[in-house]
Amino acid sequence: MTKLLILNGPNLNLLGTRQPEVYGRDTLADVEALCMSHAEQSGTNLVFYQSNHEGALIDRIHAARGSEDGIVFNAGAYTHTSIALLDAIVSVELPVVEVHLSNIHAREAFRHKSYISKAALGQICGFGPQSYLLAIDALNAHLQGASGQ
Ligand code: DQA
Repeated sequence: MTKLLILNGPNLNLLGTRQPEVYGRDTLADVEALCMSHAEQSGTNLVFYQSNHEGALIDRIHAARGSEDGIVFNAGAYTHTSIALLDAIVSVELPVVEVHLSNIHAREAFRHKSYISKAALGQICGFGPQSYLLAIDALNAHLQGASGQ
């Protein structure tokens, strides 16, 4: 059974109360529950991890090697700053789909740049919690294609 890591970075633990006009009113637990019920339909196993700390996120990415088949990653503001997270993704050689709740390209210019994108299969943004479900589907499709080769 495919096992995916749903990885969330800084401030995403505050979903529900954090700028609801931008990020909506769903909590991180709500988003995770949505992911769980979606993944059940495709027989995908999900593991969730959130941290506000760059090093903890790097450690979790390293731990994913040999443990999970791919990563759905919302790196929060580290998306726009972290070469260290980019290097971690490149190092573990796992497929990663980058997600964002908001459409980062329609926001401030500093959010338009993503270091994560340089190593990700692709980026899904702007669909709120649905971004995660689309990312799970994209990662599953990629992994099925990979195993069929
Ligand atoms: C975010 C977008 C980032 O620019 C921001 O720093 C976040 C959340 C999103 O999901 O829309 O923390 O990743």
